[in-house]
Amino acid sequence: MKITPYHENLSQLHIGCEKPRAYFIPYPDNESTSLPREESARVQTLNGNWSFRFFDCIENVPDTAIQSDADLTLWNEIPVPSCWQMHGYDQIQYLNSRYPFPIDPPFVPRENPVGLYARDINIPDDGMSRYMVFEGVDSCFYLWINGKFAAYSQVSHCISEIDITPFIHHGKNRITVAVLKWCDGSYLEDQDKFRFSGIFREVYILSRPQNHLRDMFITSEIISKDKAVINGETDSPATVTVSLFSPDGDEISTTDADENGRFSFEVNKPLLWNAEQPNLYRLLLKCNGEVIPQNIGIREMKLDNSVLTLNGTSIKLKGVNRHDSNPFTAAAVTTEQMEQDLILMKRHNINAIRTSHYPNDPRFLELCDKYGFYLIDEADNECHGMHAGRSGPDKDWHYFGDSPEWRGAFSDRIERLVERDKNRPCVIFWSLGNESGFGKNYIDCAKWIHRRDPFRFVHYEGAQTRLDENGRQDSSLDMVSRMYSSVEWCSDYFNNENEHLPFMLCEYCHAMGNGPGDLKEYWDLIYSKERFMGAFVWEWCDHAVYSGLTPDGKPKFLYGGDFGEQIHDGNFCVDGLVSPDRVPHIGLKELKSVIQPVRADMLEDGTVKLTNLYDFTDLSVFKCCWEVTENGITVKHGEIDCPNLPPHREAKINLPYTVPETGNCCLNLRFVRKSDSFEAASEQFELRRQSNIISFPEPKENNFISVCESDSDITVNGQEFSYTYDKKSAAFCRLEYKGKKLCGETMKYIIWRAPTDNDMSIRAKWNEFNFGRAFPRVITTECETTDGICKITSDVHLSVLFRACPIKMTAVYTVYSSGEIKTEIDASVLPDMPYLPRFGVMLIQPDANRTVEYFGYGPDACYIDKRRSAKIGLYTMPVTETMENLIRPQECANRYGTRWAKVTDADGDGILFIGNEQFDFAAQPYTPWELNDARHNFDLKKPQKTVITVDYMQSGIGSNSCGPKLSEKYQLNDSHFNFNFRIRPFRK
Ligand code: GAL
Ligand code: MG
Repeated sequence: MKITPYHENLSQLHIGCEKPRAYFIPYPDNESTSLPREESARVQTLNGNWSFRFFDCIENVPDTAIQSDADLTLWNEIPVPSCWQMHGYDQIQYLNSRYPFPIDPPFVPRENPVGLYARDINIPDDGMSRYMVFEGVDSCFYLWINGKFAAYSQVSHCISEIDITPFIHHGKNRITVAVLKWCDGSYLEDQDKFRFSGIFREVYILSRPQNHLRDMFITSEIISKDKAVINGETDSPATVTVSLFSPDGDEISTTDADENGRFSFEVNKPLLWNAEQPNLYRLLLKCNGEVIPQNIGIREMKLDNSVLTLNGTSIKLKGVNRHDSNPFTAAAVTTEQMEQDLILMKRHNINAIRTSHYPNDPRFLELCDKYGFYLIDEADNECHGMHAGRSGPDKDWHYFGDSPEWRGAFSDRIERLVERDKNRPCVIFWSLGNESGFGKNYIDCAKWIHRRDPFRFVHYEGAQTRLDENGRQDSSLDMVSRMYSSVEWCSDYFNNENEHLPFMLCEYCHAMGNGPGDLKEYWDLIYSKERFMGAFVWEWCDHAVYSGLTPDGKPKFLYGGDFGEQIHDGNFCVDGLVSPDRVPHIGLKELKSVIQPVRADMLEDGTVKLTNLYDFTDLSVFKCCWEVTENGITVKHGEIDCPNLPPHREAKINLPYTVPETGNCCLNLRFVRKSDSFEAASEQFELRRQSNIISFPEPKENNFISVCESDSDITVNGQEFSYTYDKKSAAFCRLEYKGKKLCGETMKYIIWRAPTDNDMSIRAKWNEFNFGRAFPRVITTECETTDGICKITSDVHLSVLFRACPIKMTAVYTVYSSGEIKTEIDASVLPDMPYLPRFGVMLIQPDANRTVEYFGYGPDACYIDKRRSAKIGLYTMPVTETMENLIRPQECANRYGTRWAKVTDADGDGILFIGNEQFDFAAQPYTPWELNDARHNFDLKKPQKTVITVDYMQSGIGSNSCGPKLSEKYQLNDSHFNFNFRIRPFRK
């Protein structure tokens, strides 16, 4: 088939389409306006199965296929909305920043896959006009009605609306849509995501009377505490009658718009909208036989001396970046899925979302209005591939932003965004796009927005790619925004006297794999700087594609490279706070704790000071549940109501607790909302720390111990045990206690971990230094037995190929007649090396059917820099459940700050590890090497052993998969250290 190739023509972006307008749904009467849109009698949904054919390119589509009498019975079927790659067509591909095609704008490849959709619809004889609405088609489409060309449109994540009245007749009509995988617009849609195609958002037909209201813009103004004004502007040719309803649903008043389509309401004692109290008023606009509902929020946003305020109060944006992504439905997401995300976010104290990197389904914004979220509404605009490819027409990514030919494409994307969403109270900033360089086209867009919508602010992080000679960004932007800047960088920004704009991080704390570990430091700074508006974690969810269950019933999630793609970006898409199927990662729990709305501090006199970090909510909505624990056991508890404490204020509270006489004692606080038992915040204070929680039995005198030394080993036998120490390894190769084997193979020294995704750049250095293959070279071993105590001392060089020994150490093992082993390691670390992932001792037991019990931070895996949600306590769990379930296996089971840990078999017999101080500990079914070799969690074999690691320290996690380097204070970079702990075998 031959078509006019609008899809490669920059001056023909939309043919036969309506001008962009505010999103709304008309209803026939007041009563039905509370129904979901698909139940409005004025909406004919075209969701459901369509006939479908797939072609390699448009030339291969036969002319007959678009004719109104084409025989659809021979076609396949595909659901709408959906992405065709999820239905067996084309190729699933995950790409970050590279273009999936050659850079040759505005041209795209000739081999440009086409999905041809068709279906018949019935149009009644009612004299109404018919508008066909496509809410999202990737990347562009040609529309034929009854075989006649009706429209062309593009911009994947924006609405295309077509007046099809002239093409239809009463009765049966044929709709045919050719969706092309790529168009010139694809150059501006190079977002980091799976590249899916098709009609991925809903399609419906609106029946509308002649001379209907086409567009409206509703704003609000707060006059005083007791008075607000709602202003509306419509373009209706006929009279509009508008009724205003209170958040409770009571009608407040009704008015007619004037001859210019304007109306306004005064509202006394207005209930304002904010993310904590999302009060929504409702308008019903009646005009020409249709009723249009609009929820509106009364709110006023300002940049007051560069401080972001809402309704006169400064606010902080506790944000996440969210993509439309679902492992089962790809980029096509249902309102239930959207709602599930929002509910989960609310439960984790998140109050802001950046719709990265395109406008979301219009119903998503309505849900944000309702649940209370501040939105950075981002235009469908990213040309990152120009940067990645570095071979664009002028070799850099400013090309599109500069180019006059592309100006129209830019303003089209911006107008479609702003016009559609301008009535949504949740939208606070408009974002010009993502990672696309900078240029005049951006400036023009920002200026246009300021004219069109003076009530909101304009964001664009890419403005920093072109600064003026003084290092300033263009003045058309209202704020400075950065991604992944270090805390130090941000702090310098505020110390720079020339910088006065409000600041935010549109992305930070890359949550890929095990991470992020650096949330807390950012928030300490954010709270301390009024102009620091907030920050948005990258990103909300892991992107992956579901591909069935493993034989043992676990879901298989696939990422880049799993589909045979020639080019892909691996698991860089698996970087969310929740799994693809929305199971919260530990990172999300960390975020929740760091941004929690109540801060509790313990003062010197033992009283607790509370700070209310909400912006609008009084603390009295919470009760404070407290408990005192002694060695992890609750010995006293109670609850009190939180005081009446307005936002941003502090107060002391009196908790009737006392510190027990002995033991490791903590005071645990939980802040629970009285209305629904939601635990929003928690805090823990250590009241007393004892060095040894479990007392050591003094080695009994006269107890029998026999030692037998050969060239290769030393065997120590006691009444109840028999141990063998391997001189080549400077470690025990056999531990038997009361007839049970406690170790399956020779114990090992270990300085490596299965690199996490956030070890992205350091892992190469670790490889370079062969940390993963360190082995002991024992220089000397001496053995001394006195008074029933055997002391083995080895000088060990922990060696690696090609390089100097990273660690030289003396290891002293003292075996007591009770069977207890005291371990004392004195280690010196070679200077000028990358920091070590860890230093510890590994002991492997022959099956995984074991239980771990420990006293330390838990219950989840935690690290020196990732333990805000962990609490000191006594925890018990099967060894098979200590690992975080991450799609790409990596280090994920560490327990920071462990004081002692016990690993027992099914009979309750086992080993106890006791630290002089705290240590890092793990007991899990896999070695770091096995974790590192597996591409997916489902590639790991069935658990067959227990791998115990007792570490002097494990380095922190950070977020260096995109963010800054791991902070030095969380690196294991000691030049010299002592590591002491005891191993005590026991029978139940
Ligand atoms: C940012 C980008 C995001 C995503 C992230 C890495 O640079 O804006 O879209 O690619 O990095 O996951
Ligand atoms: Mg990008």
